[in-house]
Amino acid sequence: MAKTTYSCNACGAVTTKWSGRCEACGEWNTITEDARLSSGPAKASLGNAKGNRVPLTDLTTEESASPRTCSGIAELDRVLGGGLVPASALLVGGDPGIGKSTLLLQAAAAFARQGLKTIYVSGEEASAQVRMRAERLGLSDAPVQLAAETNLRDILTTIEAEKPRLVIIDSIQTMWSDTVGSAPGSVSQVRAAAHELTSFAKRRGVSVVLVGHVTKDGQIAGPRVVEHMVDTVLYFEGERGHQFRILRAVKNRFGPADEIGVFEMTGRGLAEVVNPSALFLSERGAPAPGSVVFSGIEGTRPVLVELQALVAPTPHAQPRRAVVGWDGARLAMILAVLEARCGIPFAGLDVYLNVAGGMKISEPAADLAVAAALLSAREDSALPPDTVVFGEISLSGALRPVSQRENRLKEAQKLGFTSAILPSGGKDAGGAGMTLTTVDDLTGFVGDIFGAG
Ligand code: TYD
Ligand code: MG
Repeated sequence: MAKTTYSCNACGAVTTKWSGRCEACGEWNTITEDARLSSGPAKASLGNAKGNRVPLTDLTTEESASPRTCSGIAELDRVLGGGLVPASALLVGGDPGIGKSTLLLQAAAAFARQGLKTIYVSGEEASAQVRMRAERLGLSDAPVQLAAETNLRDILTTIEAEKPRLVIIDSIQTMWSDTVGSAPGSVSQVRAAAHELTSFAKRRGVSVVLVGHVTKDGQIAGPRVVEHMVDTVLYFEGERGHQFRILRAVKNRFGPADEIGVFEMTGRGLAEVVNPSALFLSERGAPAPGSVVFSGIEGTRPVLVELQALVAPTPHAQPRRAVVGWDGARLAMILAVLEARCGIPFAGLDVYLNVAGGMKISEPAADLAVAAALLSAREDSALPPDTVVFGEISLSGALRPVSQRENRLKEAQKLGFTSAILPSGGKDAGGAGMTLTTVDDLTGFVGDIFGAG
């Protein structure tokens, strides 16, 4: 007899017995019974089963790569790796209200206008609501087919009959399959619906986009189970208070991951941001202690962002370390290196680090810029104006050259920066017409820039 399993709606952990609290993530009342995926009687051993022989092929192919379709929204096409791949499955995740429906309605209209037959299925809004939004966005004339439906069986039947090339499902959490007993939005439902939709779409050569809401701890609710079923996972991020939104590829079977597209939420929907560096630096005031401009690479593009640090004596026994937009563990490492290798203590000091504009950075190349921001805040002295900083710091305090140095410098120069602080070495010594200050290790950097040690 097949065992009943249970899974947690919050983290997706699977257990064999029900309990009120998930042992994996600690959430209460999130464990639900899983529906069994196959209803047939379990065989004792698959080795005895008489299956069909699967046809095997070699790796050579006569088929030419199927052409991608570009939406014409350049920021979206780049994140997709150069347009939409036929019969691919995408997941677009993001916080509620961040603009997923707006983005996908615009994308649907753009693809439909390129001649791709497109169906937009909304499980959250009535057709009239979607039409009103389309009108506001100036998309009413786009040949998109609308449906307001949550019943998966009916949706699949419609897709089968209509034979579209692209289907957008907004959102996967609202879909329900009558083969699964639990409520819409539960892990079992989300998993079953995502599985049905993606496998159906692959068989029929339809591209499918699933919209997924993200839970408070940043996972797509229902959760990781969907990520591995799809070819591409995009996250739509941004801060409520800010107008800009970042579409980030976290997984892409058809293109580079980590590519970003930058948009601005306007009264008429999402507008492309052609020059993200200018946008991220637009709120920067006069050079101030703790503020440093980092020349980073996001995917295939250089992007300048401002790092802000604040270092202040703490009233607490345990000083605070708070980071927004960067890795907290990496901050701890840099503080430790500054302390151990350069003799600059941060004990008794609160440290705050913020990446301006709601951007998230994961590159180690930002190490030196972070160290510079921390030192500048601690010493209360601003860095020379119009300077960008980049470089990786190793645990020994040595600085490592980083990739794409030329591109980083060019972007900085384009935005009016005249000098750069960077590790020495690296392949090309070209400075793109900028004044370069090269440093070998962190101690040297501290001495050169802050005249301290
Ligand atoms: P929406 O796409 O509904 O978010 P999601 O699908 O991720 O939940 O976006 C909702 C927000 O976007 C809402 O707060 C209003 C804002 N918005 C604009 O500012 N301009 C627009 O043209 C549209 C359509 C929405
Ligand atoms: Mg929505």
